[in-house]
Amino acid sequence: MGTRVERTKEIALLSECLELVRQKRPLVTDEEALIPVARYLDASRFAAERRLLRRSLNVVGHSSQIAAPGDFITRDVLGTPVIAVRDDDGNARALVNVCRHRGATVELRDEGHCKRFVCPYHAWTYRTDGSLATLRHREGFPTLDVENTSLVELPCREAGGLLWVCPDSNVEHPEPDDATRALLAELEWLGSPSSTVFASEKKVWQANWKLIVDGGLEAYHFKVAHRNTIAGFFADNVSTFELLGDHIRFALPRLSILELSDRPESEWNIREHTHLLYSIAPNASVLVQERHFELIVMTPLAPDRTAVEISTIAPEPGPGERSEKARSYLAANHAFTKQTLDEDFEIAEQIQRGMHTGANEVFRFAGFEGALARWHRRLEQKLAADS
Ligand code: FES
Ligand SMILES: [Fe+2]
Repeated sequence: MGTRVERTKEIALLSECLELVRQKRPLVTDEEALIPVARYLDASRFAAERRLLRRSLNVVGHSSQIAAPGDFITRDVLGTPVIAVRDDDGNARALVNVCRHRGATVELRDEGHCKRFVCPYHAWTYRTDGSLATLRHREGFPTLDVENTSLVELPCREAGGLLWVCPDSNVEHPEPDDATRALLAELEWLGSPSSTVFASEKKVWQANWKLIVDGGLEAYHFKVAHRNTIAGFFADNVSTFELLGDHIRFALPRLSILELSDRPESEWNIREHTHLLYSIAPNASVLVQERHFELIVMTPLAPDRTAVEISTIAPEPGPGERSEKARSYLAANHAFTKQTLDEDFEIAEQIQRGMHTGANEVFRFAGFEGALARWHRRLEQKLAADS
């Protein structure tokens, strides 16, 4: 699988990780960084971040969730109710889930399949491309231009197996930049587009969205916070990362990587010996594990509240049913990943509860937590450019 470029990258990344695990010490890439705690608490700061996100393409889900024409999911995208739907021509579209008659919510289900969306208030009916198909007692609306009335369409992109939506219909989105294309190529090479969602769940956590991000971009906490789950699989505090424009590829070698010393490079497989976490700007992460992915989508709701949806995504099953064995493997992994992420998010809630005490004016990121420092710096730059 994969192209030569990706294979070369894979070998280089495995070599780097192997060396780090052999040396048993963290990779220092940055100066120690001090992040003001106010950035997590301040309401005007939160408003600026949300404005920035509202002008961006946000990940809302996985392509496979709307595999066939008529398949849809509904999501709140930063305050805008959205239907993401595959239209009759096979295009992914994002429609504002607000009826053009008197504003009722058109589709109430979280997900489903339909030929037409029927508003539950007076039954105005919309096609999958959002156009108004029929309405009862049309004679009552002599000034209505039916041809030109549709659910409001939002910018939508489908790439790397992910669905992206911008909740602001007035923002133009240029083609992805080179770095984003590189990220998408890696997701494609890893098999994201040909995979399907096995299980997913949503929860609102009482924590700032950046605390949710912070939990994923360093390995310093593994041995301690994850002592009851994944700690045993990883070397203490060993990780490496690469910036891909606005995104980050964060690699965590498993201890099993040491086996590669005795194996020819032709047998090296990145997924067998590392966890790769792609931090995807602005609101998602994809965690690549040996036989499945975890997609984590964050929606900042308030300075101290974040909705988080986690989905386990795995290669599409072959003809016939997914085997019982494969299902129980995925179910066990989904539960285990959820338990591990809950450990992170519970700590995020603890941090949030203590922040207003003033015990800390700053949080410290060590020189070996460079991915965190860079993520925050990038956000600062984006906010500065946006204001
Ligand atoms: S509000 Fe939707 S049909 Fe009246
Ligand atoms: Fe963690």
